[in-house]
Amino acid sequence: MALYSHKSIKSQVSSVMKKEEKNNLMEKIISLCKRRGFIFPGSEIYGGLANSWDYGPLGVELKNNIKREWWRRFVHARTDMVGIDSALVMNPKVWEASGHLENFSDPLVECKKCHSRFRADQISEKCENCGGKEFTPASQFNLMFKTFIGPAEEKANVAYFRPETAQGMFVNFKQVLETSRRRLPFGIAQIGKAFRNEITPGNFIFRTREFEQMEIEYFIKESEWEKYFDHWLNEMRNWLKDLGVRKWHEAEIPDGERAHYSKRTIDIEYDFPFGKKELYGLAYRTDFDLKNHSEKSGQDLRYTDPETGEKFLPHVIEPTWGVDRSVLVAMLEAYREEEAPTAEEGESEVRVVMAFPKWLAPIKIAILPLSKKENLSNKAKELYQDLAKDFVCEYDETQSIGKRYRRQDEIGTPYCVTVDFESLEDNAVTVRDRDTMKQERVKISELKAYLLDKLA
Ligand code: GAP
Repeated sequence: MALYSHKSIKSQVSSVMKKEEKNNLMEKIISLCKRRGFIFPGSEIYGGLANSWDYGPLGVELKNNIKREWWRRFVHARTDMVGIDSALVMNPKVWEASGHLENFSDPLVECKKCHSRFRADQISEKCENCGGKEFTPASQFNLMFKTFIGPAEEKANVAYFRPETAQGMFVNFKQVLETSRRRLPFGIAQIGKAFRNEITPGNFIFRTREFEQMEIEYFIKESEWEKYFDHWLNEMRNWLKDLGVRKWHEAEIPDGERAHYSKRTIDIEYDFPFGKKELYGLAYRTDFDLKNHSEKSGQDLRYTDPETGEKFLPHVIEPTWGVDRSVLVAMLEAYREEEAPTAEEGESEVRVVMAFPKWLAPIKIAILPLSKKENLSNKAKELYQDLAKDFVCEYDETQSIGKRYRRQDEIGTPYCVTVDFESLEDNAVTVRDRDTMKQERVKISELKAYLLDKLA
């Protein structure tokens, strides 16, 4: 197992977080997410729904930034990739062919005293609920999310919400190949929801029953699998660095522990506050999926080599990313508590800063008029309208300027632009940097270029 670390500028920012506070990091993140509108408990006005979470105004911006950057980098910036968006509910035969109906299960045990159910591979010696020490023998519990198609709840109408986006790429492989006229090696990417009836969801958005994935099925000749496995491992490392992840683990999954379709798997693991857990995965799926879909559907899914005329089933390298786990890791990595000077001479206080990489920040620029006086707010609103054409901005004129700076720090806004009374005379504004807290006077006529440069 290798350990990789990446030293970013953020890691050099002095942090005053104490050790015991780090243990509360999850609680702090969950509380900040709720308080500031990143992530709310799902269906809360009805008492909630266990392990369901809704993304609020800032959370959706953060999540979209992740998905947009992923798509830009792995689809738009490459000549060997295309994207799709396939249905959430597919013909049940897909799940027969993929092996999910037979194999996609976890071992389940039940406490004999209180009947709570747990994953057999995750229990300690006692029941977490009642302390009972006796469990039923483990049985396999299938994680597929069942539903019915149409108005009759009959066996013939049973269908499943997809447990991974991957099968959409295999099922559409032939049509994508023909319509996009690609040659091997090439990949199909998809971002979308997946559903799993997890036995023990939990740890905030880490493990839920409804979540999002960003997946790539990269089709290759069998002889080249090692080369492309390494290629995608490197791409995943670059992604992690750019997300602001400073340290992760790469765990080689041994024989007998890999998914039913995989010949080699590396799990990218992260030291979450609740333990070392899987963040992403990279698997060599061989030709398992295309072979099974060919057999079960009766369709010829082979690729014809344009040079030799040889027909064969491509093999597949699959890098896979959880969107929600990406959001969680980005939040954990960005959270800082630092001593910062107050307006009082010689005084300081702890400021909370989400030191996101700039591309990730939900709001890029906050426009803050020094007072609510009409002439100032008019000028500031005009500025907002202009900057909003190029950046995601927020306008805020409530409370003191110090409090507004702190509010923007806490949501990770890289730049605050303050419009003051002097601005009315000199047509310049003060730009404050989130990380250094330094302020600079910039002419309004040069502001857009200045910010474009800073946020590039
Ligand atoms: N197509 C392969 C596949 O689905 P996986 O390791 O089962 O592989 C891929 O899932 C990624 O999806 C994981 O690395 C994780 O980031 C995310 N993921 C899986 N189950 C999840 C859950 N219950 N809640 C949130 N994210 C999950």
